[in-house]
Amino acid sequence: MKIMILGSEGYMGWPTSVNQCSQGHEILMIDNNIKKSLMRNHKRKPLVNQKSINARLLYLKKRFKNKVTFSNIDCSNLNKLESVFKKFKPDTVIHYAELPSAPYSMIGSKEGWLTLENNLKSTFNLISCVKKYNKDCHIIKLGTMGEYGTPNIDIEEGWLSVKHNKRIDKFMYPRQGSSLYHTSKIMDTDLLWFYVRLYELRVTDLMQGPVYGIYYSDNDDSKYLPTFSYDDIFGTVLNRFIVQAVVGIPLTIYGTGHQIRGYINLKDSLKCINLAIKNPAKKGQMEIYNQFTEQYSVNQIAKKVRNALSRININVKLQKISNPRIERNKHYYNARNDKMKKLGLHAELLDESTIVEIAEYVMKHKANIDKKFIKPRMKW
Ligand SMILES: NC(=O)c1ccc[n+]([C@@H]2O[C@H](COP(=O)([O-])OP(=O)(O)OC[C@H]3O[C@@H](n4cnc5c(N)ncnc54)[C@H](O)[C@@H]3O)[C@@H](O)[C@H]2O)c1
Repeated sequence: MKIMILGSEGYMGWPTSVNQCSQGHEILMIDNNIKKSLMRNHKRKPLVNQKSINARLLYLKKRFKNKVTFSNIDCSNLNKLESVFKKFKPDTVIHYAELPSAPYSMIGSKEGWLTLENNLKSTFNLISCVKKYNKDCHIIKLGTMGEYGTPNIDIEEGWLSVKHNKRIDKFMYPRQGSSLYHTSKIMDTDLLWFYVRLYELRVTDLMQGPVYGIYYSDNDDSKYLPTFSYDDIFGTVLNRFIVQAVVGIPLTIYGTGHQIRGYINLKDSLKCINLAIKNPAKKGQMEIYNQFTEQYSVNQIAKKVRNALSRININVKLQKISNPRIERNKHYYNARNDKMKKLGLHAELLDESTIVEIAEYVMKHKANIDKKFIKPRMKW
């Protein structure tokens, strides 16, 4: 297959590129490094700097011998994306090229608009290319479980059957984002659904929960791991907690800690991408999967980290701080995630050894941790 990976330099994009190369596909990696430049502007750094793209391309070519190229393209520029799309002729496009930070999107109007503009334009431009050059191309788009918010009813996988005045119809499950980032993902989903309905495109939209971990297979080369962010703007909760534990600062639990979300290991996230590639949406079909494997409250995650790290003599403290986000502190949460399991997903569960494995990686690079940028600054 010819697979285009948009956002290939990111936390998920690089491991996906390695994983797809390992399966013998021809890969075109695309990224404009906007994430790295925003991180620089905000003085945030990943735990470890990635090797240069040239070094990583060489690694991929040597290890897998298949054809792999990289283009520094801004997906929000239609002409540029079109030029590579029509030349490469992908069978599948995996679309990660978005700004995925809720705190970043809520810093101010400029950052909010950049998030909306970048994410919507990238999605719109990809759809335009597929519609114009190859309607058969399968779009695999990363959405987020955050699109659903925290409704007081079970969260179905994408669709909800509604009975009203004795009539029944199926609608997209109601969405209610809690940041402009999440709202941009809702708008992406709407755009995709519009084009599927009108032009019979083939789309898989993966509603993913927060991803954790650093390893993506059982034989990763430690020099080629993904970027790992732990800071207040670009980090995700479990990765950040582990970093806090390693540097001996209390794990900052926002609000009451009762907020429940669905989580997924990076390895499982890649398995889901493979399952989506192997089971493509049919023409005119929008397949939506809830891509998480376990549900936990923030308190449960924090306690898991504390218990796991006591095994390696790290004494972890927990600290509740006032919630910098507007979100329900206590709520019902029960999301379905049956569809990936039915396709064959066997999940890596969040056990103590997984947490210890990530912590050992973090401990190796402890000297790089900047404690100044862990506590939340963005409030909304
Ligand atoms: N990591 C998670 O926990 C998580 C959870 C749910 C959903 N997601 C979704 O998965 C996708 C990937 O997430 P990630 O954690 O790898 O993010 P990331 O920020 O690490 O990677 C995204 C990459 O896309 C690139 N990019 C952004 N806009 C671009 C543009 N206009 N043109 C070219 N490249 C562009 C960035 O430079 C970056 O390298 C995102 O769409 C995100 O919303 C991630």
